[in-house]
Amino acid sequence: MQTKIIRIDSEHIDIEKMQEAAALICEGELVAFPTETVYGLGADALRPEASVKIYEAKGRPSDNPLIVHISKIEDLKRIAKEVPEQAKKLADAFWPGPLTMVVWKNECVPYTTTGGMETVAVRMPNHPVALSLISESGCLIAAPSANTSGKPSPTEASHVALDMDGRIPMILDGGAVGIGIESTIVDLTEEKPMILRPGYITKQMLEEVLGEEVVIDPGILATDTTDPSQAGQKPKAPGMRYKHYAPKADLVLVEGDTNKVVAEINRLVSVARAEGKSVGVIATDETKAMYQADVVFSIGARDDEDAIAQHLYKILRDFDEQEVDAIYSESFATPRIGQAIMNRLLKAAGYQVLYV
Ligand code: TXA
Ligand code: MG
Repeated sequence: MQTKIIRIDSEHIDIEKMQEAAALICEGELVAFPTETVYGLGADALRPEASVKIYEAKGRPSDNPLIVHISKIEDLKRIAKEVPEQAKKLADAFWPGPLTMVVWKNECVPYTTTGGMETVAVRMPNHPVALSLISESGCLIAAPSANTSGKPSPTEASHVALDMDGRIPMILDGGAVGIGIESTIVDLTEEKPMILRPGYITKQMLEEVLGEEVVIDPGILATDTTDPSQAGQKPKAPGMRYKHYAPKADLVLVEGDTNKVVAEINRLVSVARAEGKSVGVIATDETKAMYQADVVFSIGARDDEDAIAQHLYKILRDFDEQEVDAIYSESFATPRIGQAIMNRLLKAAGYQVLYV
């Protein structure tokens, strides 16, 4: 299959091109498109054969449910068994935006879309191309991140092309995304609202709007810590259980006071190079010049956490192209979205962390 890549200017959307993409969705075909978080791989959410194609193209296990993307808040009613009061509040506050809500599904939603679950994840993305694709097609669009299963989520159309070329008919290129990490997922089917995946919308932001406590899935805390007493808990979102986002090279994080981190990473680099390895470092603008490695990438300024989130996946992909054998990274437990950044980075590192 030939993959057509169509450039769309987000500020002046070419409706004819969008109609061509929408027609593919209506035929049950796949179209990759930009959202504000990462690129998605879309198909008609209410048509079972269409979501099956998504699993095939990604090489994704079919028990891992998809997020259904909508273009207006009222569409939540089309797929939810009932719309909880909390969902209304959160939609008013954060939609369109990087928040996914899990609610009980109704009979319209096929089990192929929900990976066999009785619940459905729903999000209204804040990107003009995504919203236009959904509304022009008249469909609700099931879309996981548009990467091959196990690779970092795509933040540019070229990443999608690398993973999906020849596997899907069309990629809409809307340029680099704004946020760079996937949406926050909040589950509204539990006794208390529960964060299943941390993201740009934080626990505090959710609590402020809901006026009640929001808990974090103990399963993700268990995997994000080295505390053995937390071990054995499984994350509730099936996708959070898989090893994810792993670069080809072995990645190790080094955490602690900056001067000590730089010294330790330089020591590790020289040990690895003495063994004949090619070594990469993930640094910040402030520390980039301090490292003596084969490849040093800056993720952004240390106090600019939006930039760190935005560049994370691109850097992991760039390292795959550089073919380094080992990567050492500084740690980025920044104040607001640091939990979301570290959740992704720890996974990429297979939880290898050195404390100095
Ligand atoms: O930002 C995003 O959310 C992007 C863009 C494209 O919208 N999408 C995305 O989709 O990250 P995906 O498929 O890569 O991740 C969806 C996550 C998976 O971990 C999946 O297991 C979880 O959401 N999920 C989906 N439906 C669920 C449900 N009903 N209950 C629990 N977890 C669910
Ligand atoms: Mg994904």
